Amino acid sequence: MSQQQKVFRLPSKGAGYEAIEERQEPIPQIGPHEVLLQVHATTLNYRDLVIANGQYPFPAKDDCVPLSDGAGAIVEVGSDVEGIQKGDWAIANFDISNLYGPQQDWEHGLGGPIDGMLRHYVPLPASAIVKIPRSTKLSWGQLAALVCTGITAWNALYGNLPLRPGQTVLFQGTGGVSMTALMLARAAGAITIITSSSDDKLQLAKDKYGVDHTINYKKTPEWDQEALKITEGRGVDFIIENGGSGTIAKSLECIARGGIIAVVGFLKMADEMPDVAGLVLGKGAIVRGINVGAKQLTDDMIKFVCAKNLDVPVEKTFGFSRDQVVEAYKYLEAAGHVGKICIEVK
Ligand SMILES: NC(=O)c1ccc[n+]([C@@H]2O[C@H](COP(=O)([O-])OP(=O)(O)OC[C@H]3O[C@@H](n4cnc5c(N)ncnc54)[C@H](OP(=O)(O)O)[C@@H]3O)[C@@H](O)[C@H]2O)c1
Repeated sequence: MSQQQKVFRLPSKGAGYEAIEERQEPIPQIGPHEVLLQVHATTLNYRDLVIANGQYPFPAKDDCVPLSDGAGAIVEVGSDVEGIQKGDWAIANFDISNLYGPQQDWEHGLGGPIDGMLRHYVPLPASAIVKIPRSTKLSWGQLAALVCTGITAWNALYGNLPLRPGQTVLFQGTGGVSMTALMLARAAGAITIITSSSDDKLQLAKDKYGVDHTINYKKTPEWDQEALKITEGRGVDFIIENGGSGTIAKSLECIARGGIIAVVGFLKMADEMPDVAGLVLGKGAIVRGINVGAKQLTDDMIKFVCAKNLDVPVEKTFGFSRDQVVEAYKYLEAAGHVGKICIEVK
């Protein structure tokens, strides 16, 4: 193994993705409780864009290796590690300290407060590793895509009262979280509704990804009323709330009695907040903040997705050069994508 590796770093939080630098650095040495992951693919998240442009509301360090998502093979195993072998296929949990239960802080997420996956080799605590079954038909990119959006979507649907077959799930937008949650919900027998600003994206969501109902939230700003019509007035059981404070009033209108609004994103800020407490009380609904997910949830998700060989929606793949990395960020920023954007690490 060569002693040097290609590493990308964002010199400071908010420097902008055009400032990302390519460097040569020594391959890290691992401790007795660590493993070394050789990354084969990584995927981008909205979080990576806002870390780069300085709008991320949580801690991120300067001179960080970006990106939380990586999938690959274990190439070194620390002397005290049990249950992981050289050659195992693996991903790491997004928060490397959160093994079980609610996330305790925002200090241990890959690619923000700690160095992430945009490099060939990553040292990781063995406890954060989730092994991938060899029988999987998923690509490295599809596996990487499960790290942040996959577990977030899984947590939204199974981290509290679990989704049941025949329930209705609404996804806001056609980005990574929404499309991954759509895949999971369909596989679980849910009735699915997706919203988008684009008819073309809605058509793709229908033709390629099999969503049951579509709503263009630009052409139909009262998308909550449309969701009520679709559900014959009953409302939807789960909402993947990507908009946040700016969309939650409408979500509260169309949530079913006892339904769950999983607050995932902050894509639309509110001019004026609704009376959330009053509306939640009236509906007997749950409004639940999602903080990615614990490793125990990632284990469950990987078991399900790999056993069913679900077709994780990766839309476009870029290469592992500085120009290609910048292009991948630009593509994410343009928001023309449906699903995930991948970088193949070679
Ligand atoms: N809480 C957590 O643990 C967690 C984890 C992962 C992600 N997130 C957050 O979740 C959000 C989505 O992340 P992502 O990676 O899926 O982003 P993404 O792939 O960049 O997708 C963004 C998509 O959201 C849609 N959108 C934008 N504004 C919208 C609005 N007002 N109403 C409905 N849809 C809207 C757009 O889809 P259309 O073009 O189809 O309209 C846009 O393409 C981000 O805020 C991200 O930071 C949070």
